[in-house]
Amino acid sequence: MKRPYEKPFLMKLQSRMMNKHGFAPGAGRRVRKAIDGVKISDLVDRYGSPLFVYSERTLRRKYRQMHSAFTTRYPNVVFGWSYKTNYLKAICAIMHQEGAYAEIVSKMEYEKAKGLGIAGDRIIFNGPHKPLETLAAAVVDGVTINIDHLDEINDLEHVADRLGRTINVGIRLNMDVGIHPQWSRFGFNLESGQAIEAVRRISRGGKLKLTGLHCHIGTFITDETAYARQVEKLVAFAYQVQAAFGYEIESLDIGGGFASRSKLKGTYLSPDVSVPTIEDYAEQICDALRNSLRPGHFPTLVVEAGRAMVDEAGYLITTVQATKRLADGTRAYVADAGINLLFTSFWYKFHVEVDRDVSGANEHSVIYGPMCMNIDAIDDGLSLPPLERGHRLIFSPVGAYNNTQWLQFIEYRPNVVLVSETGEVELIRRHEDLSDIERREVLPLRLIPELDQAAFQRELEREA
Ligand SMILES: Cc1ncc(COP(=O)(O)O)c(C=O)c1O
Repeated sequence: MKRPYEKPFLMKLQSRMMNKHGFAPGAGRRVRKAIDGVKISDLVDRYGSPLFVYSERTLRRKYRQMHSAFTTRYPNVVFGWSYKTNYLKAICAIMHQEGAYAEIVSKMEYEKAKGLGIAGDRIIFNGPHKPLETLAAAVVDGVTINIDHLDEINDLEHVADRLGRTINVGIRLNMDVGIHPQWSRFGFNLESGQAIEAVRRISRGGKLKLTGLHCHIGTFITDETAYARQVEKLVAFAYQVQAAFGYEIESLDIGGGFASRSKLKGTYLSPDVSVPTIEDYAEQICDALRNSLRPGHFPTLVVEAGRAMVDEAGYLITTVQATKRLADGTRAYVADAGINLLFTSFWYKFHVEVDRDVSGANEHSVIYGPMCMNIDAIDDGLSLPPLERGHRLIFSPVGAYNNTQWLQFIEYRPNVVLVSETGEVELIRRHEDLSDIERREVLPLRLIPELDQAAFQRELEREA
């Protein structure tokens, strides 16, 4: 077969920084033509670009893998779906269908969980800001509340007075488990004695009953042994408060934080090597429980993993809009999605795939988004074949925190679709238009442009 003509080219050789594991990874010749059997071209033809695509198959597989890793090692486990990681309704509904409770941290997330019909006794309310009225509603609803600070103890006592009954509560702890920076701004510190003081305060108040302990040590934790240290400290504290105050701790909530197969910037090794498996985490946690709990005592283990469940289920399809050479000769591409849609690109280097085979030599390239801002680089250096306008780039894994932290900045947010287990494509969030952006805005009458005043007057008269 005759090979197509390829234009000769001159390329400046850039050796760049190499580390002991070789060059920074790039797309190289990674080609993705479909997601779960649905062609990228069909997805874009139907739903446009950029486009978020979720794989229901991956999402359910991840949940089931996590469920099995823990339930085969410990008899009493509950999963709390971390809404902040991804609160698209369809994603939450799938997690709830699989059996997860809702783990929420705000009024908005509480309303979302209620909107999905989740019963109060399957909601876990964490976080440093629980508005009093939301807190009161949650108590009435039977929600599990993990207290973050002393003011919240006061708030809950106030609610207990109003209701004329005792309220069961959990408290959040923070502790040294060898992870730095330590997430010490949430909850009560264990080592300094703050935590035991908080329990003393609860006991003295006589209006709340401590039944649970909660602790979330951080996110993207690649040292699974940190969880063993966390569990040992939680169990020791549970027995300490039982001895000192008579409280029976019924649940130990270890938070989330398990790493996904994303690549944290600044790490050398590929996630395939550096990220523990779900079984590794489960083994550490359940072994530590077995070794530190008293025989026959099986408090509920609550796991609030978010990222490790959903990240790999999410893809973002983008389209190259322009190709450029920067002043220093670097190849650059402008894509139709930037940090507005991939907010987590500040910390993670995504896997980038091209939607077709492209011939020509690979080149060190940068990918910019459409924001008219210098910070809008979604990849500041990877190896790509020569791309042209219209070629598609597929970023993954992007299922964690991007559809909650995305910005409505300059551009409209695009469609989000779900590929079902049987290969149907369903729209789960419609793209925005100007009405979404302006719906909450109010333009004072005096600022309505002159031209519109007459029309406005007519409108008023018509309404009258
Ligand atoms: C209290 C709590 N639980 C669970 C999570 C989920 O963490 P991840 O997505 O890292 O698993 C978070 C995230 O910050 C959290 O604050």
